[in-house]
Amino acid sequence: MNLKKTKFPDGFLWGGAVAANQLEGAYQADGKGLSTADVSPKGIMFPPDFSMKEFNLYHEGIDFYHKYKEDIALFAEMGFKAFRFSIAWTRIFPNGDETEPNEKGLQFYDQMINELLKYNIEPVLTISHYEMPLSLVKNYGGWKNRKLISFYENFARTLFTRFKGRVRYYMTFNEINVLFHAPFTGGGLLFENGERNEQDLYQAAHHQFVASALAVKIGHEIDPTAQIGCMIASMLTYPYSSKPEDMFAALSQDRKTLVFSDVQSRGYYPTYMMNDLEDKGITIHMEQGDLELLQENTVDYIGFSYYMSFVASTAPEHQNEKTAGNLMAGVKNPYLQSSEWGWQIDPVGLRTVCNQLYDRYQKPLFIVENGLGAVDKLEEDGTVNDDYRIDYLKAHIQEMKKAIGDGVEIMGYTSWGPIDLVSASTAELKKRYGFIYVDRDSEGKGSNKRYKKKSFDWYKKVITSNGEDL
Ligand code: BG6
Repeated sequence: MNLKKTKFPDGFLWGGAVAANQLEGAYQADGKGLSTADVSPKGIMFPPDFSMKEFNLYHEGIDFYHKYKEDIALFAEMGFKAFRFSIAWTRIFPNGDETEPNEKGLQFYDQMINELLKYNIEPVLTISHYEMPLSLVKNYGGWKNRKLISFYENFARTLFTRFKGRVRYYMTFNEINVLFHAPFTGGGLLFENGERNEQDLYQAAHHQFVASALAVKIGHEIDPTAQIGCMIASMLTYPYSSKPEDMFAALSQDRKTLVFSDVQSRGYYPTYMMNDLEDKGITIHMEQGDLELLQENTVDYIGFSYYMSFVASTAPEHQNEKTAGNLMAGVKNPYLQSSEWGWQIDPVGLRTVCNQLYDRYQKPLFIVENGLGAVDKLEEDGTVNDDYRIDYLKAHIQEMKKAIGDGVEIMGYTSWGPIDLVSASTAELKKRYGFIYVDRDSEGKGSNKRYKKKSFDWYKKVITSNGEDL
């Protein structure tokens, strides 16, 4: 492929992505209610601590709630075209089941969005990213309860109405497939005796699919120009060997992710899933009109995160050679290096995922998360030499460019955590993704001052040249 001839399209949405609970802090300010993240001091893969006695880094985050103007000015300096953020549901509906929103919560996002628009940065809004009102867990049992659909609907309607004309890009649920990996974070689900209940999981997934389709419907009714996407954590899986059984194991593993985008993009439950449910003796309770709603309100684009790839093997001896990941562990790939957190680095996999998703759905793709979590060192002169991050991002952007050359339609790229924030899987600040260093550590100590890393200027150059100068 002649990469020189391949160009990123005009208007390509370069930028960064964050989630409210990982950076805002101010967890009780201006009427905000408690969320599931507020009781998850160890991160999304660990059980909650309802006593709230344990130190929780999310409570103060990096104080974006008060520093957003300073931070957005830095994003603007890098030339961001887009900024992906999420709305803390509990700022708008502190308990989740109120009928009227909390005006102060809406005002915060009004101001934040206006600040982005001041710099011509396109706001990209995730309605729900890894959190929900704790009260919906305690009083309703989370997403296994159908009532959650109308609470989410009210939440989504409030956002579409309020931000109409200012926000054009939305996503309904961040990494909707997280539900099966971290059920408390993904769906507010708690299981009796800690035993995973598949019936509840699939029921909760159905309610989220219906809620997501309703959001697409309402969003389009309120603002016909709104682009509303799904968002999955892509988990490309390779067969360990050319053994046919390994190939099928890889395909089956990928389907556990793709089933989510299949329903949200194609508008129906795939046969492979229905057969699987029958085998497991699971019946999803649906109401009249659910299937039509799914069918008639499919997403406009496919949003996804990409950090690493996975390997599936049927050989028992490989099952112990596991590597880490944000949502799940996998078999080690002998061809790949890993990050300090054990995530296998695979830029070519990004090209493959782009091609696979585009072949499957024929809808524009939006890469809304990608990045390297690493330990950074703030030098005495205030610099951070994060060449490893530049190398990681450069290699991935190159592969994204190749995917465009393959004919894949890609709307934008928002790298994860343009400013250091609290990690989701491990609730720490030791692991950093940003172009901007935040002086705060995992114990919550530090000045909270912001410093530009070496990657800051590098990313600025990438954006200014629309991906030509890497
Ligand atoms: C994605 C999430 O899975 O990965 C983000 O959408 C998360 O919320 C990101 O922060 C990186 O994971 P981690 O655990 O390193 O923060």
